[in-house]
Amino acid sequence: TIRFRHNSPEDLDKRMSRVKEKKGDFFVIIEGLYSMFGDIAPIDEFLDVTHKHGGYLYIDEAHSYGVFGETGCGLAEAQGVLDRVDFIAGTFSKSLASIGGFCVSKHPEFEIARKVMRPYLFTASPTPSNITAALTAVGKINSPMGKQLRDDIWARAEQLHAGLDKLGYDLCAEPSPVIAARRPNEVICAMEWNWLLENGLYVNLAVPPGTPQSSSLLRISLSAAHTEDDVNQIIEKFAQLKDKQADLMQDFMKLAG
Ligand SMILES: Cc1ncc(COP(=O)(O)O)c(C=O)c1O
Repeated sequence: TIRFRHNSPEDLDKRMSRVKEKKGDFFVIIEGLYSMFGDIAPIDEFLDVTHKHGGYLYIDEAHSYGVFGETGCGLAEAQGVLDRVDFIAGTFSKSLASIGGFCVSKHPEFEIARKVMRPYLFTASPTPSNITAALTAVGKINSPMGKQLRDDIWARAEQLHAGLDKLGYDLCAEPSPVIAARRPNEVICAMEWNWLLENGLYVNLAVPPGTPQSSSLLRISLSAAHTEDDVNQIIEKFAQLKDKQADLMQDFMKLAG
């Protein structure tokens, strides 16, 4: 496995160029919407680099399926490159509100992968109820109702991003359904997370090693069910948190000794 710099097609290009013995094919794996910062991949540039070196591009659209693209097919659809991508994977557990996942490919050889995957070989396949729930959600995503839900979630994303930005929070990326604010360190981040929870707002606490650049994040995942009023309440809690920061910092200094 060769790692390349986060979201950098240039670095991928350098690293792929350095591999002298090209045994087998490259398999380049990226995400559509990155789960921690909520930033997005420039898929066309990754495609150009990957294909230039004879590799395949695999995109995990776990966080982008359902919310990006005209029909909700994901970031590759939104960026107009769906037909060039080699493999697209996603989960049923986010916008499809079920359990399981999928992988699709335009390559006929993909049939081999299907035959050796766990659900085909073993009995522990997804249950009919999970599949039905996911299929129903897929139908809704690609419908006028899905389009409305997407319009709603994007409006909420813009609203929340603008609100937190105005309060001076250091946000990790442009507006998207994943909005993360960088905090000074793990302990302060955990104290703030706890304060928000005690005051009626649940967000995700995201700390190293699960985060890029060793960052500590208060991470919010929006849903199309959030209303404009819900988002105003989130912004209000973050405003109150700003007022609490001096107290929390004092507690932190005491803890740090
Ligand atoms: C980027 C990414 N891919 C895939 C998954 C898989 O999700 P699950 O195990 O719920 O199917 C997740 C879960 O959070 C994820 O963040």
